[in-house]
Amino acid sequence: MIPAKSLICMAEESDSPINRFSSTIIGGRYHVLEALGTGSYSFVHLGEDMATKKRCAIKVMSVKNEEHIQAAENEVTALRRVSRVPAVASLLEVESTDENMFIVTEYGGSTSLQALVNRFQYRGLDPASLRRVASGLLKAIRQCHRHGVAHCDVKLDNILFTQGAVTLIDFGSAFVEGRQNNTRLGSVAFRPPESFSEDFKLDARAAELIDAWGVGLSLFCAARGIYPFDGASMFELINDIRRVNLDQLFQDFENDQLAEMLRGLMAPVDRRWTVEKALRSRYMSPTKTKVLGFLGL
Ligand SMILES: Nc1ncnc2c1ncn2[C@@H]1O[C@H](COP(=O)(O)OP(=O)(O)O)[C@@H](O)[C@H]1O
Ligand SMILES: [Mg+2]
Repeated sequence: MIPAKSLICMAEESDSPINRFSSTIIGGRYHVLEALGTGSYSFVHLGEDMATKKRCAIKVMSVKNEEHIQAAENEVTALRRVSRVPAVASLLEVESTDENMFIVTEYGGSTSLQALVNRFQYRGLDPASLRRVASGLLKAIRQCHRHGVAHCDVKLDNILFTQGAVTLIDFGSAFVEGRQNNTRLGSVAFRPPESFSEDFKLDARAAELIDAWGVGLSLFCAARGIYPFDGASMFELINDIRRVNLDQLFQDFENDQLAEMLRGLMAPVDRRWTVEKALRSRYMSPTKTKVLGFLGL
């Protein structure tokens, strides 16, 4: 078995940022409240819609250089395309200043899949929750793909799970079909082996298969309570991901149908399942599969 690393160590701890945007009002309507989290290019705050009193999330992205501007514009373009997807935190408002872009989205709750997995230390989620996460996540990604957007950073931190429903956040690495500057790839720990090859070319199909891997690996972590790859440095971690051995990874897996689906989603890129195929798997539709089997179909 590949050495397992506790997900507790993988949780992104962040220093509390100086709350310099507190009390700012965006679009004449959204009030910036306390900080929720920080990311590579952004601070995210809780916000309140002053008209409805509903909570929202306000992502403040620095637009000081071309790379940051591209990332912010990419995120907004992707969000505009997928805002009608029910499991996506919809775009409510965008406002720009010389230094920052403020992206206001629906609030997806305070529990990420990472937090949930940490809570169930090493044991993995209970089967009913796991099935709900799998179903919500696969359907959300399928709908994004149908709108010409691949998320490209599917990982435990970017999946919120509240009252049995999944909300997908963070389209900062999204691949948007037809857009010129599809910029950075997502988090190294959740990127598939082929994305580290020198000859890797990002197009719509490759981006959808990046998502398939991200979903497979996130669900593996949720099922087992561990992140399966390891390495003392980024270089070693990448090598470990590239050497993935599915037989070893799934040797103690209790649920055969789930293992079959995750092995499909984490297969080498030329044999990898799409999320569409995973949604037709025995794990996702056990009754239908049984009836069809009974009918000899
Ligand atoms: N719509 C949202 N609802 C609730 N929390 C959110 C929302 N968007 C972001 N957050 C919080 O802010 C953190 C960082 O936001 P994210 O969009 O993932 O930024 P980054 O691109 O920097 O990772 C998230 O991990 C989450 O804790
Ligand atoms: Mg994120």
